[in-house]
Parts: sequence; C-alpha cells; structure tokens
Amino acid sequence: MVHQSIVILSIISYPLFLLIQWRFSSVVAVASILLACIAFPRCSVSKPKNLPPGPPRWPIVGNLLQLGRLPHGDLASTCRKYGPLVYLRLGNVDAITTSDPSVIRQILLQRDEVFASRPRTLAAVHLAYNCGDVALAPLGPRWKRMRRICMEHLLTTKRLDAFARHRAHEAQHLVRHVYGLCWDGDRAGINLREVLGGFSMNNVTRMLLGKQYFGAGSSGPQEATEFMHITHQLFWLLGVIYLGDYLPFWRWIDPHGCEKKMEEVEKRVDDFHTKIIEEHRRAREAKMEGLAGDSDMDFVDVLLSLPGEDGRDHLDDVEIKALVQDMIAAATDTSAVTNEWAMAEVIRHPRVQRKIQEELDSVVGRERMVSEPDLVHLNYLRCVVRETFRMHPAGPFLIPHESVRDTTLNGYHIPARTRVFVNTHGLGRNPDVWDDVEDFRPERHWPEDGSRVEISHGPDFKILPFSAGKRKCPGAPLGTTLVLMALARLFHSFNWSPPDGLRPEDIDTAEVYGMTMPKARPLAAVARPRLPEHLYL
Ligand code: HEM
Repeated sequence: MVHQSIVILSIISYPLFLLIQWRFSSVVAVASILLACIAFPRCSVSKPKNLPPGPPRWPIVGNLLQLGRLPHGDLASTCRKYGPLVYLRLGNVDAITTSDPSVIRQILLQRDEVFASRPRTLAAVHLAYNCGDVALAPLGPRWKRMRRICMEHLLTTKRLDAFARHRAHEAQHLVRHVYGLCWDGDRAGINLREVLGGFSMNNVTRMLLGKQYFGAGSSGPQEATEFMHITHQLFWLLGVIYLGDYLPFWRWIDPHGCEKKMEEVEKRVDDFHTKIIEEHRRAREAKMEGLAGDSDMDFVDVLLSLPGEDGRDHLDDVEIKALVQDMIAAATDTSAVTNEWAMAEVIRHPRVQRKIQEELDSVVGRERMVSEPDLVHLNYLRCVVRETFRMHPAGPFLIPHESVRDTTLNGYHIPARTRVFVNTHGLGRNPDVWDDVEDFRPERHWPEDGSRVEISHGPDFKILPFSAGKRKCPGAPLGTTLVLMALARLFHSFNWSPPDGLRPEDIDTAEVYGMTMPKARPLAAVARPRLPEHLYL
C-alpha cells in the first residue's frame, strides 16, 4: 500500500502541473484525491456498454492522472497500446481520443452531425461570452447564425480581396523590419517570434479593427503592448486544462483561483472590445452614415452595419464582441506559431532552404518582391508548409468536439456528451500513416503528376491543418495566405542561419502544450539580405 501511494504521488504531480503553479492550498485537494484513490483499489469501472478499449482508471479521477505535461504525446502512446479508438474517463467526463485517419474521417465527415458540438467548458463560459462565439459554442441555432455571419460577411473572397493591399503593405513592412534588424550586428540573431507575431497581429487587426498595432502607422506602443498582453492571457487561459471542468469539487476549492482569473481577464478583454466598438460608432456617426464604400469597411464596421435577430436593427454588442474576439484568437496565434515552426525546421535543414530559394528565384526572380498571385506557383514551399503542419499542427488537438447523443463508432458504444480529442499531433507522427515520422522531408508531399499542392486535408485525412466537416476552420484561405506570404518573403529576401556558435541541427524543437503548441524557446536566427538594396526600401 505504501509503495502504491508513492507511485500515485509521483504520477499525480504531473497532471497537477497543468493546473498552473503549485500552491499550498492545493495540498488539501490533492490529499482528498489521494485518499480516494488509496481507499479504492485500482479498478476498471464496470462497463455498462461496449465502450472502446482504454487504459484502466482510478475511481473519481478516472484517467486524469495519466495525462502529463504533453497530453497529446500521452494520448498518442495510449492509442498505440489500445488501438485506433480509445475510451478515457476524465473525472466525471466520458472522452475518446484518436490519431487514426479512418476514425477521424468517421468523426468529422460521416458522423459529423453527432460529433460537431463543443463542450461547455468553464473557459468557454467565462472567456467566450457564455459560449456566444463561433469556435467554442455548442451546436445549435446560435452557433449556426454566428458562423453564417463569419462565412457570408467577414471571410468572403470579396472581402478578403478587398484587404489584399493591406496584406501587401504588411508583407513589405515585415521585410523592411527584418532588413533594419539585420544591421544591428547582433550575432545572437533576430527574435523571430516577435517578428512573426507582429506580422500576424497587424494583418488581423488591420482587417478587423482598421488599425496596425506594431509599426510606423501603429496605434501606439502602449495600446499595442496592452492588447498583446491581454490576448496572451486569454490564449493561456483557453489552453489550460482546468480540473474544474472534470471534477466538480475542484471548482468549489479552486485552489489556484483559476475561475477568478478568467473573470478578471474577461473583464479586461471586454473593456477593450467596448472601447473598439465605441470608437467605430463615433467614426461612423462622424461620417454621417456615409462610409467611403463597402471595400473600406473593417470587420467591426461590417458587424455594426448588420441587422440583428428577430427584426432588431443591429447585432447585440455582445455578439459583435464575441465574433471579434474569436477572429483575433483564431487567426493570430495559429499563423504565427506555424510560421515560427516552419522557419525553425527550414533553418535546421539548409538543403530545404536552398530548394525554397531556387524555386523563388525561378518563379519570382530577384528583381521584384513576392506578391500574392505568386503563391499558387510555389509548389515546393507549399510542400514545406504541409510538412510543417504534419509535424507541428497549430494546435496539438482540434478544439474538443462533443457528441450530441448516444451513437456507435467502429462498432463501439459512444455515450451522449462524450468529449472528443482528435490528436492532430499524433496523426502527423503516426508510424502506420507516415514513414520516418521524425524527419522533416517536404518532398514526401510532392505530387507525382506535378499538380498544385493543397495545404488543407485530402480525402486520405493524413494531415488535418484546418479540420473538416461542420467545424472546419472558416479562415483556412486567409490562414494559408498569411503563412505562405511570410515564408515566401522571408526566404526570398534573406539567407537564414543559426546564431553564431550554433550548427543548424542545434536549433531545438522542444514544444509546449496549450491551445496552440509553440516552440518552447523563441526562435532566433541571423538574416543576410540576398536581393538588390532598393527592393527593401
Ligand atoms: C494557419 C492558420 C490557421 C490554422 C492552422 C487554423 C486551424 C483551425 C483549426 C484546427 C480549427 C478547429 C476545427 C475543429 O475543431 O474541428 C479552427 C477553427 C476555427 N478557426 Fe482557424 N485556423 C487558422 C486561421 C484562422 C483564421 C485566419 C481565422 C479567421 C479570421 C480562423 C477562424 C476560425 C474559427 C472561427 C474557428 C471555429 C470554427 C467553428 O467552431 O465552427 N482561423 N481553425
């Protein structure tokens, strides 16, 4: 029994790491879990139905103790041991996980109407306007309406085309910014996380709010820093696996004040959105209803001009705020994290960098900068992006899905309200699907018939950067453009190498778990210009 307690103590400390920092008060809660676990022998709770196979579980906590600092890795090993579809009990929540293309296809396409809901997590309640957004809202008329607004008014081809000149401006700003940093003589390298984060944020805020946050025409360093800070706190809280979602008594104890923190952040984010909406309203009034034209409207203008539900003149402010927040959260980190991983992998593999540059020199030449129409012709670069998504999907899991009713999958019973963890990280490194899973090899995506390389998933479901089915990412075309454009510009304009004293293979690829999965340490690299000087100015 003593030995068992020690084992439990050692394994319990890992999941608790996910509960943010350790504090004295959590000892009380942990003691209760330990007592419960020690009091009852390890057991498989009797299976009422034919559930999928899965690891044995403890009373009360179920399989929560088996999740470590990198839960996607733990769940991928569980699938290797128990099969392509695994059942877990996380506290009082039924869950399944998979990293198998055929099971994923069933969940996202064939049984989409059953699995396309979302759990009402406390983060979604506190940080997404009571699940009133698109990304975290359960399936239902409200989600349908909000998603339709995104698809029909915000992310349309016409609207995205109207912002092309802003994106071109941001692409040039990116190159100029790096060009300026090249001459600093700092051989420790340029902090690419900052550079790429600023590029994504500026593109998104220009489109959404009509402002550039970082750079010459920015809204000022104080506002930009505040905005970044709040957004980072929001991401971080959305990514935390909060035990209160799985163990009701944890909510009551809340040893780390997690819910209080969520409420505080929600209030700060809400104040920010309120300010933005008021600024836009004032600007509209000043123009006496007459904006220069539809193409000059940013997303907030568009949302302010839409009629509300049930014959109301306008959308509620809360609806506008939820949509704005979703767009910022969904668009900025995903593209910035992907770009940082792609840069890291390419700098680790000088052969790949040479091939990207050969393609750019042949398609674009060295007398002008890359522009958006070039992107479809950069097939090798597109392979690089696909390979980056295989090894480093923006999030380790899709946003959790939830089943709306009892159903069956692969012949097993799946209860209603089962949480679904589609492990995209595990899919990309599944040895039954890919050879040499740890090798970064873009050539594996090169089509034999020379056709255009698609970045999104194909019928084989072997990679899933933007998901599929009802919940698939509505921003995929924009996300793809932001990623391809940043990489094309940076590799066309500069030769990249590791900071002094490091070899390419010394660039580390350690990752941290969260809603998105960035490199643990920001990427630093040295840039040397490779185009005529006048192109950078
Ligand atoms: C490289 C960039 C991006 C990647 C890799 C990405 C990936 C994803 C993924 C994996 C999901 C979850 C789908 C699921 O749970 O099944 C998602 C959802 C979503 N994404 Fe993206 N995304 C990107 C950019 C964007 C952009 C630019 C926007 C909008 C401006 C956006 C808006 C959304 C929204 C609103 C959802 C929620 C959809 C729903 O639940 O109905 N994303 N994205």
